[in-house]
Amino acid sequence: MPSSEYWNILFVCLGNICRSPLAEAIVRQMARRRHLDGRYRFASAGTGDWHVGRGADPRSVETAARYGLDLSSHRARQITGKDIADWHWFVAMDRSNRQDLLDMGAPEERVLLMRQFEGVHLDVPDPYYGGPEGFDRVYHMLLQNAEALLDYLEALRGSPG
Ligand code: 4NP
Repeated sequence: MPSSEYWNILFVCLGNICRSPLAEAIVRQMARRRHLDGRYRFASAGTGDWHVGRGADPRSVETAARYGLDLSSHRARQITGKDIADWHWFVAMDRSNRQDLLDMGAPEERVLLMRQFEGVHLDVPDPYYGGPEGFDRVYHMLLQNAEALLDYLEALRGSPG
C-alpha cells in the first residue's frame, strides 16, 4: 500500500454525484468529531464518466444541507488507474461498484463495502432514478455505517503490521 502518514480513503459509486459525495462528507464530518481528521484523507469518485466535472445531484446537495453538510464545491470525477495505485482504501457503495474496482486491479483486501458492517444489507441503493425520499434514506444508511467504518479502520491502524 502507498506509504503516507494519512490513510487515504476513496468512496466509490457509479456516477459520483449521489451516494459517494454524501458518504465522503458524512464520514469526514464524523472523523472530525472524533478528532481523527489528522489521520485520514477522504475523497470520492465514480466508475462511470457521464457526469464528470458536474456538481453533485441537487437532491444530494439538498439532503446534505439539511444535515449541515456542504456539497456545493463537489465536482464529479471518474476513477483512474492512478487512483487504484494511490489510494489506500476503497469504499464501494454497492457490490457492482466493488466488482468494477476489483476489475480495475484494486486489491481485494483494500476494497470495503459501505454497508458490510451491517452484515445483512450490503448495497447502498442507487437513488438516482427515484424520488427525493430515497436520498434521505441513503443519508441515514450512510450515517448508520460511518461510525463502524471508522471503528474498523482505527482498529486496523492500531494493530501491528
Ligand atoms: P451515484 O448515482 O452512483 O450514487 O452517483 C448515479 C448517478 C447517475 C447515474 C447512475 C447512478 N447515471 O446513470 O447517470
